[in-house]
Amino acid sequence: MAQLHAQIIATQKQYALRARNQNLSLIVPESFIRGIRHMGYRSNVEAIAELVDNSIQAYAETIDIVFGYDANGSTRKPTHLAIIDDGHGMDPDMIRFAMMWGGTHRENDRGGLGRFGYGLPCATVSMGRCFTIYSKTSGGSLHAVTFDLDSIIGGNAGAERDVAIPTPALAELPHFLHDAMRRSFPGGWQSGTVIVIEKLDRLDWSTATGLRRNLVRQLGVAYHKLLRVTRLQVDGEQVCPIDPLFLDSDADLYDLDEDRASALDPVTVRVEGDECRVGDVVLRYAWLPPSFAATDKARDAIGINANDRFPIIKQYHGIIFSRNGRLVDVQSRTPWTIFINNDRYIRIEIEFSAALDEAFGVTTSKQQVSVSPEMWDRLRGAGLHKAIEHLRAKVKSAKAERPARAPHAVSVSAENSLPERFKRQLAVPRGVAVSDALRMLLDEIESRASGAKPVVQTEYRELLRGWSERMVASS
Ligand SMILES: Nc1ncnc2c1ncn2[C@@H]1O[C@H](COP(=O)(O)OP(=O)(O)O)[C@@H](O)[C@H]1O
Ligand SMILES: [Mg+2]
Repeated sequence: MAQLHAQIIATQKQYALRARNQNLSLIVPESFIRGIRHMGYRSNVEAIAELVDNSIQAYAETIDIVFGYDANGSTRKPTHLAIIDDGHGMDPDMIRFAMMWGGTHRENDRGGLGRFGYGLPCATVSMGRCFTIYSKTSGGSLHAVTFDLDSIIGGNAGAERDVAIPTPALAELPHFLHDAMRRSFPGGWQSGTVIVIEKLDRLDWSTATGLRRNLVRQLGVAYHKLLRVTRLQVDGEQVCPIDPLFLDSDADLYDLDEDRASALDPVTVRVEGDECRVGDVVLRYAWLPPSFAATDKARDAIGINANDRFPIIKQYHGIIFSRNGRLVDVQSRTPWTIFINNDRYIRIEIEFSAALDEAFGVTTSKQQVSVSPEMWDRLRGAGLHKAIEHLRAKVKSAKAERPARAPHAVSVSAENSLPERFKRQLAVPRGVAVSDALRMLLDEIESRASGAKPVVQTEYRELLRGWSERMVASS
């Protein structure tokens, strides 16, 4: 053991000597940035949400997430991403700080969405190797700063390497944004911020379509309470609010069909957090009828019979945590119970104020909670445990009361019909159009892939890529 320790100490010494010769600052830029690129975000959607948070906090009325493509004209996979907003913008000096890790004008603020000063730089480098912040305040002129990892990592290594952020310079927006700016801000653009990410080497979806679909769906859920005051678009497509409890009658999917969610009374508890900060926790509950996620109500919500609500109840399965109105995490276990597949039909949201961040263990990237034992006790005391049992009983008795299943329907209208060989394998409910069937299949593939091991994910991506190439070739 002693020998092992000595070996490690020797290695440490060598490292420290080498590092000191290279860099005397607190952080070693190369390894810091390489490490931080792989930290935190479950997927690109959560990273982009950081930038949406910033735009919302800048009081933007319109936010658009714009895709840019290669000069060769292919629109299969984006090569650039931009988040454009019409918020208050930043002065040139602030642009520099916004780019820095830890640079924030709202250090430890509990009133909004940001507080750590890590969101912008972490989110951008998690997707690409180069990003530019363009910003303009009302009456000011557009300035920009670019941060290119390649000039730091593996670049001209040596002590003279320059990692200081350059001074913002007067700039013009890149060409690929011109149409989007006109479309999103028809009355002109007085102030705002545009974040452009290039060299996108860490996109989780291999096609623009996949990325767009996931952004629209997940951001619709994450910001369902905030979209009333802010218009959010993905490449011009409106993001509609989706209440994951399906109780909000103004939200999407609420009235997809006749089935409705039933609510239990919400409960509000006032909790004292760290440093005497006081905040509210609101517990919202709902349960869904057994046919809620099915197209043909007589059959189960599986395969092609799952409707558009299905991916939502599947992905947001467990207890949904929202912080200051924005969804941050979903957890499928409490200290007393674990949520199983059947529990998809019980819906719970715990909404908390950022004053209680410590008790909910909110992490720097705001997309995870790690609830303290004391807070679990408080939640149990507020009736959470009993409510889960009650909701389970409701779902169970609703299932028991369900009428016996109708025989499988197989006919579809002639002009829309699926090929015979598919029909032989699938039970296709009456009236399902090919386009709907296709969309459901893509959803199914995507949700399978997102929960799968990397090799399986690659398999699915290859499958989709091949398919997409065949379509392009035949069009
Ligand atoms: N879209 C934006 N509009 C105006 N200011 C912004 C925008 N994005 C970032 N900023 C500024 O940059 C700072 C850093 O952002 P960020 O790294 O996300 O940290 P945080 O949101 O935790 O403060 C913010 O505090 C804000 O002052
Ligand atoms: Mg932020």
